[in-house]
Amino acid sequence: MSTPDQSHASQAIDSMLQESRRFDPRPAAELGFAAWHVDGIETYREMHKRSVEDPETFWAEQAKQLHWMGAYEKVLDWQPPDVKWFVNGRINACDNCVDRHVRDGHGDKVALVWESEPVKDDAKTPEPAEIRSLTYRDLQRETARCANALKKLGVRKGNVVTIYMPMTPEIVIAVLACARIGAPHSVIFGGFAPHAIVERVTDARSKVIITADGGYRRGEIVPLKKNVDEACETLEKNGNPVDAVQCLRRCGNQIGWKNSRDVWWHEALDAVDDNCPCAPLDSEDMLFLLYTSGSTGKPKGIVHSTAGYLLYTAMTAKYTFNLRPDSKQLYWCTADVGWITGHSYIIYGVMANRVPTLLYEGAPNHPRPDRFWEIIARHRVTQLYTAPTAIRAFMKWGDEHPAKHDLSSLRILGTVGEPINPEAWMWYHNHIGHGKCPIVDTYWQTETGGHVITPLPGAITTKPGSCTLPMFGIDAAVVNEEGHELPANQGGLLAIRKPWPGMLRGVFGDRDRFVKGYWSRLKDPRTGTPYYFSADGARRDSDGYFWVMGRVDDVINVSGHRLGTMEVESALVSHPAIAEAAVVGMPHEIKGTGICAFVTVKSAWSKQNGGRLPDDALRKELTAHVAKEIGPIAKPDSIRFADGLPKTRSGKTMRRLLRDVAAGVEKITQDT
Ligand code: WTA
Repeated sequence: MSTPDQSHASQAIDSMLQESRRFDPRPAAELGFAAWHVDGIETYREMHKRSVEDPETFWAEQAKQLHWMGAYEKVLDWQPPDVKWFVNGRINACDNCVDRHVRDGHGDKVALVWESEPVKDDAKTPEPAEIRSLTYRDLQRETARCANALKKLGVRKGNVVTIYMPMTPEIVIAVLACARIGAPHSVIFGGFAPHAIVERVTDARSKVIITADGGYRRGEIVPLKKNVDEACETLEKNGNPVDAVQCLRRCGNQIGWKNSRDVWWHEALDAVDDNCPCAPLDSEDMLFLLYTSGSTGKPKGIVHSTAGYLLYTAMTAKYTFNLRPDSKQLYWCTADVGWITGHSYIIYGVMANRVPTLLYEGAPNHPRPDRFWEIIARHRVTQLYTAPTAIRAFMKWGDEHPAKHDLSSLRILGTVGEPINPEAWMWYHNHIGHGKCPIVDTYWQTETGGHVITPLPGAITTKPGSCTLPMFGIDAAVVNEEGHELPANQGGLLAIRKPWPGMLRGVFGDRDRFVKGYWSRLKDPRTGTPYYFSADGARRDSDGYFWVMGRVDDVINVSGHRLGTMEVESALVSHPAIAEAAVVGMPHEIKGTGICAFVTVKSAWSKQNGGRLPDDALRKELTAHVAKEIGPIAKPDSIRFADGLPKTRSGKTMRRLLRDVAAGVEKITQDT
């Protein structure tokens, strides 16, 4: 069995297993809720048992919370590894997040609150941020107009629309407009470089891109349109030209323009009307594609369905965050829409519950390190969902920043993306939750669509560092390579033994990768039925609580963002001076896992081959090169020059040794 990617992870887990603090659920009223949706451990256990023993009845009940345009004939059709949920049903995700609420008389209620980054970078007199609120009626009108504009650009049901936008309300409008007409969206995180756009647009065979002139980040303009232009040029050269680029004017920065291809967002939307009914889609129609990293150099397009995904995100959002419409909640997830967390828990899951969602454009420390706390106090945020890496940064910036602000509106605190160390958990609990807010450490993946292991705030006692117990419908287990469930406290592979509505439906255009990557390694030892393999290692303690240890494949989790080591390696070897590269994770105070790259440089004597001296100048150049090839998130934290990489007899790089070297517990002699 492989060991987890981060060698420090198991040490961290050892300390987590000695963690003895317990935090019991509190009465709902103490936190300002009328009630908990799941009000105690017995209710949780009863519901969970029912959900895995009789999923069809359980999910049919749950499905009543959505609006269906045509009844489904069957809840579940499971032909492993292929699944259909709500067979032949008709439904639309935008209708459920927007139009339904207008029909039900909530058109004038706030659906989305947006706050921009303060535009002037001046800590003394910061420019007040721009604040906009959109009602469900506003969203209905804007998504209809955007959908009509897309249709005019030739987009039809089933055509993938690429979205590469800043965090403004228009990214939500663009996503929901696609859902409205059944055009799957493929959102690319705005921090990715042109090369990443080229890869994703090509793989998705996407012909239309929605972007903006720029986006603000720490007072700087991120040149989104320029990146798209560069990508389009390459796409054209490669014979995959893009037909149209719809561009939002956000920063007013200078941009290139191609009349035959580019159209302004505002002009396109002004030229159409706001009548565009939500298309009655099949339950299994693809709602979106989202690219994520795997073990190979090429990102994979994870396919999600319409009905199953929507129901799963709606249900998990409701139970994990105790979302209740009509109760003055304002929920804030600080992720970017470019990641799955933004898809499921800024947009779909939250809006389907008719709870207003807050969208913030900027960085957590711009112009000052109390930016988040100021926003929470101003808007009276009730649920906050963020990442352990952010929490560790807040700890470092100092307790005085949250202390300055009134955080009394907060009721539930969530984390996602990587294991949270107990120290960060306790800081979050004390300094943000003031000892009263439950913390929900939600474990899930792009592939799972929504939370699969998570505390429920009114029902499950929490332990710092553990994501606790499985969500309804999730038959999670820690197993060995033969699929046998392991006894308490033994480390193994995290598997899910039954299908659930939010599970991925495929890897776009790559059946083999879907079957091999997720469904071939583990199976039921008695029946041979495949289990879903998460690629994470985990243990369960004697209370049945899960402790996730981290990835067991060649994926590293940097600041909660997934990166394939091979992606970074290919970027490094594409630099003319580099002969060979191996990338591993290393412990990092803020990021959890940082990137350590071992590189061998082409001989300095063969200048014509690009040979260089292994010096600091080259280190800087390589860092910039990786940022240019993938994006700033992939910049190595440490680059180490070596004469050669340690290999096994069969020629495989000894990654485990390199991980130990990176972590400082081992040395290699040729390291300089
Ligand atoms: C890790 C993010 C421990 C895990 C939603 C998983 C976590 C990968 C947690 C998926 C958590 C996510 N505790 N580890 N609460 N949440 N992970 O696809 O390794 O970007 O496989 O989805 O993040 O990352 P992805």
